[in-house]
Amino acid sequence: MSETLKIAVLRGDGVGPEVVEQALSVLEKVKKKYALKYTLREGIFGGAAIDAAGEPFPQETRDLAQASDAVFFGAIGGPKWDGVKAELRPESGLLSLRKTLGLYANLRPAKCWSQLMAQAPLKERVIAGVDILIVRELLGGAYFGKKGLSSDGQAAYDTIEYSEPEVRRIVKIALELAAGRKNKLTSVDKANVLETSRLWRKVAADEAKAFPQVSLSHLYVDNCAMQLCLNPAQFDVIVTENMFGDILSDQASVLGGSMGMLPSASLSDKAALYEPIHGSAPDIAGQNKANPLAAILSAAMMLRLTFKNESAAADIERAVGAVLDAGLRTADIWSEGCKLVGTKEMGAAVADTLSSF
Ligand code: IPM
Ligand code: MG
Repeated sequence: MSETLKIAVLRGDGVGPEVVEQALSVLEKVKKKYALKYTLREGIFGGAAIDAAGEPFPQETRDLAQASDAVFFGAIGGPKWDGVKAELRPESGLLSLRKTLGLYANLRPAKCWSQLMAQAPLKERVIAGVDILIVRELLGGAYFGKKGLSSDGQAAYDTIEYSEPEVRRIVKIALELAAGRKNKLTSVDKANVLETSRLWRKVAADEAKAFPQVSLSHLYVDNCAMQLCLNPAQFDVIVTENMFGDILSDQASVLGGSMGMLPSASLSDKAALYEPIHGSAPDIAGQNKANPLAAILSAAMMLRLTFKNESAAADIERAVGAVLDAGLRTADIWSEGCKLVGTKEMGAAVADTLSSF
């Protein structure tokens, strides 16, 4: 791609700034090799923006995000802002960013790295070979439905709403992704109870007719949660609504050994946001302890999906594998016999490995 891509960098709170720093230095390494053209512009976001501008997603950051080809984001939130009212919480800034950019498709790969098997909480025979992609609908459901609190504060409600086009567009993306993998898609719902799920199931089955090579199956969300622990290797691509996807993707992150390993992409038809799945981890923020690999792997996803540069993306993923092969581990993935390193050392090791390719 010859045009110069505009990347907005929102480091956010907690460990966000330090993991983003490492991802950007890794990106810089591949920039030369692949003659990538991009500009980076920083914006304030989350708690840091509440402190500086009184709101989590100020207008200048909104303008920056809308004028960019992709947003690269760290993490938001922390106990410091827990007391602020709901609309001003850092998380509401993230929801508003998703809405502003129309990011309806959230891709969350959960892959088991063979190097991390030793310290994974689940047994090797259960997680070996696991490589799942969760496709979470990101702009509907309870997150954005009507909600309210009664005047006496004693009752509250949140509503789940989905329309046919909202279901169709996310299922279509999942089918396309499944067609590029193992042709296996599991649509997760709660159709035995929820009306929205019955609509979801009907639309999913209908859309799948356009992809005869993909085998579509339907699973209730409670059963899916159980199957993810019992036999995760049965899954390839999973597509589901917003809140089910939120919950199942945290659960699936355990299959990879640590949340610190998992990248994500959120896409609209023209915009994109890349971020590590882990949160701001305020307890270890600023201590050079966070695992930067999820952020680094998010940069690889950005290269693949926004830059359309598969080779550069694959290089980064290979470098991460090589660093793990060499036994380097941040605290979250450390096990006996491995070398404990900090955020900076891990990032530098990936960058150095890239230079050796
Ligand atoms: C996630 C997070 C967010 C969500 C929060 C921070 C609003 O848990 O990205 O999974 O629930 O979507
Ligand atoms: Mg979540």
